Amino acid sequence: MSRVACIGAGTVGRAWAVVFARAGYEVALYDALPGEVTEQAIPAARRSLELLAEFGLIDEPVDTIMARLHPATSIAAAAAGTVYVQESVREDLDTKRAVFSEIAAAAPADAILASSTSALPGSDFLGHIPSPDRALVVHPVNPPAFIPLVELCATRWTSPKTVAAARTLMSDAGMRPIVLNKEIEGFILNRLQFTLVAEAMHLVGEGYCSAEDIDAVLTDGLALRWASAGPFEVAHLNAVNGLQGFVDRLGPMMKRMGELARTDYDWTPAQVADLHSAMAKRVPVDSIPDRQAWRDRRILATRRMKRDT
Ligand SMILES: NC(=O)c1ccc[n+]([C@@H]2O[C@H](COP(=O)([O-])OP(=O)(O)OC[C@H]3O[C@@H](n4cnc5c(N)ncnc54)[C@H](O)[C@@H]3O)[C@@H](O)[C@H]2O)c1
Repeated sequence: MSRVACIGAGTVGRAWAVVFARAGYEVALYDALPGEVTEQAIPAARRSLELLAEFGLIDEPVDTIMARLHPATSIAAAAAGTVYVQESVREDLDTKRAVFSEIAAAAPADAILASSTSALPGSDFLGHIPSPDRALVVHPVNPPAFIPLVELCATRWTSPKTVAAARTLMSDAGMRPIVLNKEIEGFILNRLQFTLVAEAMHLVGEGYCSAEDIDAVLTDGLALRWASAGPFEVAHLNAVNGLQGFVDRLGPMMKRMGELARTDYDWTPAQVADLHSAMAKRVPVDSIPDRQAWRDRRILATRRMKRDT
């Protein structure tokens, strides 16, 4: 059975472990924090698998999949004998550089080496290792055990063969890879997400509406479409003559909204504090774990609906 390593077993690393184990890989998990794998990550992986089982989204018994998860005592021990290594340590260039030096020294020469970085261009921390052609960014959406999209982004050294093999591995593991044509900070998902959040902060900060209203615009409005048809398909479906008709009719307005958007909006600490207290009234901070569990159930219910319709 092929072996995969997950280096860093926090929020994202432990969810990756579920992705690989349910795809049939033996998974070695390593974290620098003592006890993080055995006391936190592995129990959390079991809870995720139980939830996936409840929604009919895994094919094997939870115990069968759990038996493929193995704590490792070092990066070298985890990476040895693998076909693929997924790094998910904290978002810090020096830490990632150091971790990749260790991974590259221990992993087989033909293993794919991938980073979960949310925004850092891989060329900033993957060029110093021996054979950097085998390394790339594979950026998940949190948590990858429940959300299939992954963004693959080559560095200036990554070989097309590595990108193609990573894409196939991800597809075969039930993920939905997209491949960026060139590097850009934040990749695609976070650039779209943070641009929208920045304009939302502007609208709330300047008193046009409440934070609750913004959330409703997404959850009871735009996102109901976007869960099935993305913005380009929405445009294509919303006009008699498809996308061309949409742009002919609404193009000038779209352009003007883009020009008026304040993605550079400079939030003050007072505005952030107001937003936080509005959020904490809706979801008290100590109830966030319960609300996360609720969110995860809704994500899986949506996935099941998409699979079945
Ligand atoms: N949380 C998200 O929403 C999200 C989504 C996509 C990508 N990411 C990216 O995934 C990576 C991990 O994020 P996270 O949210 O899981 O962070 P996290 O803080 O939950 O987990 C990071 C883990 O890495 C461990 N670690 C730190 N240094 C290490 C080292 N030298 N060797 C081994 N382990 C080490 C820490 O002990 C910790 O358990 C980051 O690059 C982040 O940007 C996060």
